[in-house]
Amino acid sequence: MIKKLFLTALCASSFASLNNLSAMQCETKGETTKGDLSDLQSVKKWEKLAPGIWKLTIGDMNDEIRYTDYAASKPKTTQLNKYEAKDFPFSQDEFKFMFTKDKKIVVRIPTDKKESLYGFGLQYDGIKKTKKVLQLNVDHWARGGGKTHGPVPFYISSRGYGVFFNTARFMKFYVQVGNRKDDKNLPPRVDRNPPADEPQPGRWDSQPISNAVEMSMNGNGLEVIVFAGDSVLDIVAKYNLLNGGGAMPPLWGLGFWHRVPSKFNEKQVRDEIAVFEKEGYPLDVLGLEPGWQTKSYPCTFEWQKKRFPNPGKFSQDLLNKGIRLNLWLNPYISPSSRIYEKMYPLSGSHMVWLGIVPDYNLPEARKILTDQHYEDHIKIGVSGYKVDEVDGYDKWLWPDHATFPSGKSAEAMRQSYGLLLENMYYNDLFKKRNVRTYGLIRANNGAASGYPFAIYSDSYNHKEYITGISAASLSGLLWAPEVRSAYNGKEWLNRMQTAAFSDFTMLNAWASGKKPWSYKDVAPQIKEVMQLRMSLLPYLYTAFSEYNRKGIPPVRAMVLEAGFDLKEKVIQTKLDGIKNPYETDKVMQKTDQYMFGPSILVAPFYGRCRDKREVVLPKGKWYDFYTGKFIGNGNSIKITNNGRTPLFVKNGAVIPMLTKPVVNTKEAYGHELKLRHYGKKTGTAYLYEDDGLTFDYESKDAHRLTKYTVSADGQLTKEVVTNKAKPMFGNVIKVEVMTK
Ligand code: GAL
Repeated sequence: MIKKLFLTALCASSFASLNNLSAMQCETKGETTKGDLSDLQSVKKWEKLAPGIWKLTIGDMNDEIRYTDYAASKPKTTQLNKYEAKDFPFSQDEFKFMFTKDKKIVVRIPTDKKESLYGFGLQYDGIKKTKKVLQLNVDHWARGGGKTHGPVPFYISSRGYGVFFNTARFMKFYVQVGNRKDDKNLPPRVDRNPPADEPQPGRWDSQPISNAVEMSMNGNGLEVIVFAGDSVLDIVAKYNLLNGGGAMPPLWGLGFWHRVPSKFNEKQVRDEIAVFEKEGYPLDVLGLEPGWQTKSYPCTFEWQKKRFPNPGKFSQDLLNKGIRLNLWLNPYISPSSRIYEKMYPLSGSHMVWLGIVPDYNLPEARKILTDQHYEDHIKIGVSGYKVDEVDGYDKWLWPDHATFPSGKSAEAMRQSYGLLLENMYYNDLFKKRNVRTYGLIRANNGAASGYPFAIYSDSYNHKEYITGISAASLSGLLWAPEVRSAYNGKEWLNRMQTAAFSDFTMLNAWASGKKPWSYKDVAPQIKEVMQLRMSLLPYLYTAFSEYNRKGIPPVRAMVLEAGFDLKEKVIQTKLDGIKNPYETDKVMQKTDQYMFGPSILVAPFYGRCRDKREVVLPKGKWYDFYTGKFIGNGNSIKITNNGRTPLFVKNGAVIPMLTKPVVNTKEAYGHELKLRHYGKKTGTAYLYEDDGLTFDYESKDAHRLTKYTVSADGQLTKEVVTNKAKPMFGNVIKVEVMTK
C-alpha cells in the first residue's frame, strides 16, 4: 500500500510572498496518484511567484535553510513582472516526489529524450550535464562528479525552463540516468550480440537515456522553483532577478588586482607598488595574503605589527594613490584572537585547523566579528576581503555530524557557509555604512547573484578556468580566473588575457611572487591588455549595471547570447557546426569562448590551443575589435596567436571607452570618452553612471543612463534617459568608425 504522505504546498499566488520566500507557508495534503510511477506522489499545486516562475514546497522547511534566505536583496519584482505570462513548462502531474523509508526526499522531473540539460553551478568539465550523475556538495573542485566551489542546484533545459532546488543540502542528481521499469517511454532495447544470420542492431548504448532528472537528499523539506523562458538568457535572468538581481561592484573593483606573497611586509609592498607606478602598470587593489595577521590558519584578524607597524597610515597612503587594500582570511578563529573567548560558545562542535567555526546564523556572533573587523580594518579604509577555505575537503572542514549552536545541520552549514559569510560582510559591514565592496570567496551556492564576491580556485588549469566563465554565468556566480604563474611568457600572456576579460582581473602572486612584467618577452603585451581592460571600464561597468537591474550576466556563456532560440527545433536540427552553428547541440556546449558585455566575443588562447584555435561566430556579422575588419557570419574560423586577445564585435556595436588608458579607476572619474562603432548598421550603446562607491544607486535610484546612437558613418545622437546622478565619466569627445 502506498503511504499517504504530506506535501506542504504554498498558499495561493501573492506577490507579497515574493518578498519573503520563506515566510508564506500553509499546509495542504499531498495528492496520491496511482499510475505507472505509483510509489511516487504527484503534485498539483505550484504557487505562481511571477510571470513564468512557480514554487513548490515538499515536506517541512522549518529547520531547513533556503538559499534565498541568505540572498543579498529582495526579488526585483518590477523587472520580473515585465516578462510575459508563460505556461508551466511540463505537465505538473509529471513532477513526482516521495519520502523513502530511509528518510530521503526524492523528486523526479520529466524530461524528453531529445532534451539537453545545462548548469549545476561552477563545473569545470563543461556546461552540458545530460546523462551525468552529480553529487552537489560544496568542496574543492573535482572534474566531473559535481563537487565544486559552487555546486548550485539549478539547471536549465533546452526546452526552455530551469529548475532551482532552493534548499541547503547535499543533493545527488541522476540527470537523465536510471531507467525505471514502469516507465512507459523507455528507449528501445538493443541486442548487443545477435547471431550472424539475424538483423544486426543499431548502436548499443551503455547508458540508455532516462526520461527524467531524479534527485535525492536527506532532510525534512525541499523547496523547488521552476522558471520558464524563451531563451537560456531569460531563464538565467529570471533566476538572478528572483535572487535580488546581479551584484553591482564599486568601479574600483573592476580595475586590476595584485596579491603579494604571503609574508610580505609593509616596505616590500610599498616597493612593489612603486614599480607599478614607475612602469605605468594599472593597479586598483592590493591584496595582502595570510602574513598580515598575527596568526593565520587559524586566524586572528589582527594586524601583525612586526610586518605592518602602522596599518592606518599604510592604508591611507595607498588610498591617496587610488589603491585599496583587500585582506585575506579564512573564517576559523585562533585562540590568540581577542574575539576568541566571546566567540567560543557561539561556534560549532568541531574546529578547522584548530580554529573555532563561528555560527553566523546567530546575531551575537555576527556582531562580535563585524565590530572587530570594523575597528581593525574598515575604519582605516580596508575595502574588502578574500574569504578562503570555505569549500573543503572533507578532511579539512567540519564533519557532517558536527553540531552548531543555531541548530542548523553541519551539512546545511557546509552548503551555505560561504553564502552566510557574504551575507554578513555585505550587509552588516558594508551596506550598513553605505559603502560598496568587491571581494573573493572560495565557495558559493544558490541565490548568490547579488553578492559582489567572485569564486577563485587552486586548481589552475587554464582551459577549466575559461570553462568556469561560462559555467558561473549560468548559475548566478562571479568567477575569477586568476593568474598565478606560468611556464613561459606565452602562457603568462594567454592567461592574463583571459583574466583581463573576466568578472575579476587578478594576479595572485601569494606563492610565486610574480609581477605583471615578470616575463620580459611579453611585458609590453601584458601592459597593453591591462590598459585595454581599464579603457573598457565604462562599457564593463554598464554591463554590470545590466546584471544588477536586469539579471544579464556581464561575462557569460555563448548559450546566453540574446535571441538564441531554444525551441524544440533547435535540438532536433542536424548537427552542423559550420553552416548553422547556433542550431546545434555541439555549439551550445562551446565553452572556450564567451561574451564580454553586450557586444564583444572573447576567444582566448590556452593549453593545446595556445597558438591556433577555432572560433564559432554566431549568426550575424562579426568584426575584428582592433581593425574593424569583417570576420565572418555564423561560421567557424581558425585564428593564429598574434599576441593580442582575440576579440570579435557584433555588427552595429557601439562601445564606450576611455580615450586613454588610466592606471587606476581614480583616474577614470571624469575621464573623456570615445565611442567605437563597428560594422555596417546604426547601433546604440547605453552608458550607466553612478557614484561608483555607495548604495545610493539603490536607495535613492541615483544613477544616470545615457543612450548613444551611432550610424555607420559616425553620426552621433545622444539621449539622456535617466538623470538622477552626476556623470561619472567625462564627455564623449569622439566617435571612431572602425569598419571602413
Ligand atoms: C590558498 C588560496 C591561495 C592563497 C593561499 C595563502 O588556500 O587558495 O589563493 O590565498 O591559500 O595561504
